[in-house]
Amino acid sequence: MQIRDALRAGLKTLLENHVPSSQLAAELLLMRVLGCDRGYLHAHPEIDLAPDVTDTFFRLVDERLTGKPTQYITGHQEFWGLDFEVSPDVLIPRPETEHVVEEVIELAARYGLAKDARLQIVDVGTGSGCIALALASEFPGAIIFGADISRPALVVASRNAVRLGMPQRVKFLESDLLARLLDTDSFSSFDFVVSNPPYVGHHELDKLQREVRDFDPSLAWGGDLECGDEIYKRLFPQALRALKPGGYVVVEIGYNMQDAVLALLGDGWTDVEVGPDLAGIPRVVSARKVVGAKA
Ligand SMILES: C[S@@+](CC[C@H](N)C(=O)[O-])C[C@H]1O[C@@H](n2cnc3c(N)ncnc32)[C@H](O)[C@@H]1O
Repeated sequence: MQIRDALRAGLKTLLENHVPSSQLAAELLLMRVLGCDRGYLHAHPEIDLAPDVTDTFFRLVDERLTGKPTQYITGHQEFWGLDFEVSPDVLIPRPETEHVVEEVIELAARYGLAKDARLQIVDVGTGSGCIALALASEFPGAIIFGADISRPALVVASRNAVRLGMPQRVKFLESDLLARLLDTDSFSSFDFVVSNPPYVGHHELDKLQREVRDFDPSLAWGGDLECGDEIYKRLFPQALRALKPGGYVVVEIGYNMQDAVLALLGDGWTDVEVGPDLAGIPRVVSARKVVGAKA
């Protein structure tokens, strides 16, 4: 069977089973089996595939029909133009999370912080390390920590740091939010505390896609949360202690969470802003620690 026929047949099966982004899924699965890029697939549609290659491709298509996300099958997801390894131990990085990275870049520029300054940044709930490593790629002088309560997630994040050539500048640590950093001399030393925390509460479980509910780790999206805002409630007071005066907290929020999250900020914060994602949904909240605020 030729590449073009395999792609057509795979696509037909995925479409018939209403798999979202079927075309992309078929291409990514065949790229995975062939170990090639998309350019190769389209430049050589006439190439004959060995029977074992075709069999493997259709096995992966069948695996996708179970609801397993394409990224957990291929083991990769692109974020901020970087290629991340992913496994079922980490949340698949989402495009909307790139707005967190954008917001840090925007705030740093607004306050005259040079890109090569020795900024200290901590990413809470780092998962695959996508936010921490994207920021490290943008701020070459920064020291960045990625904290997560999940040890298996930290193994994936550390591998990504090595793969992307940044293991010296990005340090990963097991911690319940910022607890371990607040135990050390990192107290009041951070320029940015960033986070895409778990935020799906029980009342939203029925709205969750099957792919997320059955395959992303529940610790990552919020399986045990009652309301969805629990992590922000604990994180903001800790961030106030970890940040330098004038430093920022930048967090992703879930659909419809703007009011609940803003209400949690309270004293000690100023310059509060909410930014939308590409769909116009309020997605990123940032706030600045008041100079002289009591932590
Ligand atoms: C929504 S995922 C975000 C992962 C990654 N930052 C991203 O944007 O793709 C939330 C992450 O927070 C971690 N997490 C959950 N509870 C935590 C806690 N109490 N302390 C630290 N990390 C936690 C999960 O293990 C998961 O990796």
